[in-house]
Amino acid sequence: MSDSSRSLDDLRTFVNSSAGVDLQQKMKFYNSWAETYEQDSNTMSYRAPHQTVEFLFDNFSGRPEQVQVLDVACGSGWVAKLMVELGFKHFVGVDGSQGMLDQAAKTGLYKELKLAFLGTDPLPAPTGMFDVVMIVGALRYDFVPVSVIRELYLAAKPGGHICMSRNDLKSESGNKYKVSMEKELQLMEEEGLWSHVITKEMDKYMIDVYSNCEDAQNEKYLSGTMYLYRKSLN
Ligand SMILES: C[S@@+](CC[C@H](N)C(=O)[O-])C[C@H]1O[C@@H](n2cnc3c(N)ncnc32)[C@H](O)[C@@H]1O
Repeated sequence: MSDSSRSLDDLRTFVNSSAGVDLQQKMKFYNSWAETYEQDSNTMSYRAPHQTVEFLFDNFSGRPEQVQVLDVACGSGWVAKLMVELGFKHFVGVDGSQGMLDQAAKTGLYKELKLAFLGTDPLPAPTGMFDVVMIVGALRYDFVPVSVIRELYLAAKPGGHICMSRNDLKSESGNKYKVSMEKELQLMEEEGLWSHVITKEMDKYMIDVYSNCEDAQNEKYLSGTMYLYRKSLN
């Protein structure tokens, strides 16, 4: 296929071509990217799925084969593919891009795949059904708004885990998102909705293709953070 070997420079131009567009356009962008998304993401050293799945596994005590997983912003199904290697078996996926959902369907791992624009449409998931709710690579100001975190919480079973990861975009909007997300996580804990299990930094989330920092060796990678919360039992 013609786009199958984009260089890092091609990818800088490509991913930045979607900056500033509205959500509907963004989902069209992902539709157009879906077929080569994983290959291109490897070129950008995007390691968030691997690191977040490992983070969950290291801090989780259930039996993976019995766990119902809701994979929010599932994209091409990468998270489920990695979780299957660790024994997880039951997945439902949600994404706003039909092209990405088509790729996820090809994995054959998801019992259901649902199209929804998060933040606009309600999260299409029953309340209190999932042992694990994952969201990787989508908690950022121009993707999934912070308000959706309460919907992730609702979808979890009492005692279920909500596992989230986020990158540190080097921009004012990126920073504002981080502050408002962490405020919401804390507020939900103060409200007794969930308890904090663990937070861990990722120093190599992916190569920073968003800022102009190709020459600054120490700024080559974006960092990020992984969060694990446990829904209260009552
Ligand atoms: C960087 S990809 C991450 C996909 C997958 N979780 C992974 O880590 O490979 C971001 C995904 O989020 C989806 N997305 C972003 N904003 C969304 C929104 N508001 N509603 C639904 N999906 C959204 C995109 O369609 C895309 O599939």
